Amino acid sequence: MTNVTKIFFSPSGTTKEVVAQIAGNFESSEEEYDLLNFNSTKEFNEDDLVIIGLPIFAGRLPKTASERLAKIKGNNTPAIAVTNYGNANVGDALLELRDILVENNFNIIGAGTTISHHSIFSNVAVGRPDEDDIAKINEFAQKCKSKLESGELENVEIPGEKQGIELKQLPFLIGCDETLCAFCYDCVTVCPEKAIPDDDPVDTDFDLCSRCTACISICPEDARSFTGEAFESKKPVFEEANSERKEPEFYL
Ligand SMILES: Cc1cc2nc3c(=O)[nH]c(=O)nc-3n(C[C@H](O)[C@H](O)[C@H](O)COP(=O)(O)O)c2cc1C
Ligand code: SF4
Ligand code: SF4
Repeated sequence: MTNVTKIFFSPSGTTKEVVAQIAGNFESSEEEYDLLNFNSTKEFNEDDLVIIGLPIFAGRLPKTASERLAKIKGNNTPAIAVTNYGNANVGDALLELRDILVENNFNIIGAGTTISHHSIFSNVAVGRPDEDDIAKINEFAQKCKSKLESGELENVEIPGEKQGIELKQLPFLIGCDETLCAFCYDCVTVCPEKAIPDDDPVDTDFDLCSRCTACISICPEDARSFTGEAFESKKPVFEEANSERKEPEFYL
């Protein structure tokens, strides 16, 4: 039986959900590596199946996630690769994920882009992945399963070429309401960039912060949120521009 491993970077939880949905189609126990905190080497074999999901940040993979993923190696290991985005743009992210996996000796038997609730702009792609998305994700996973069973393990073609999108730090600030903070330090622990001082969880070092949203999602008191003029003025414009529904795409 194939050993299934889930690998994801999922600050607000939707990419993890997509990966789990795919994995649920394989009758196998599952191991998982959460790149928010896993930053080590690891090697897989030919009889493993790795399901990898990363979110899209400004048309690229999150820098920390791609650096951590690059330490994980395959040995002709079948992989399913998904980039998950907030109904705006995919940019170079899926091709970037392909390149890392191929370089590290994985065989991508299926790849795709899925759409989830936008983790910064809360009115975009609300409620996604929804029932329709889940049905398409399951159909894709079943086709990957058939390929795996038939031994069809070559890398799939992903159309398009990289546009050369530069890594970009978004200008938005994250604030913390001191009157709500319970000083539980969950945000300090989850932050992949060590941008929240462990002696002052109300603070954020914006030179280190990637705006990943993990601290906002984990905070039990809803004390942390995007704030400031740049965010407030962009929000209505972005939400209007990205209100039309996009659909997931899969390559097999
Ligand atoms: C810093 C940052 C940049 C983002 N850039 C994009 C983008 O370029 N295109 C897009 O459609 N969504 C973008 N999003 C939205 C996320 O890709 C989307 O919400 C995804 O579902 C987040 O995954 P998660 O729930 O696993 O954290 C961005 C989110 C963040 C936090
Ligand atoms: S402080 Fe920034 S990098 Fe750290 S968890 Fe929050 S959003 Fe992510
Ligand atoms: S997770 Fe929320 S409540 Fe806990 S320390 Fe951070 S800001 Fe405060």
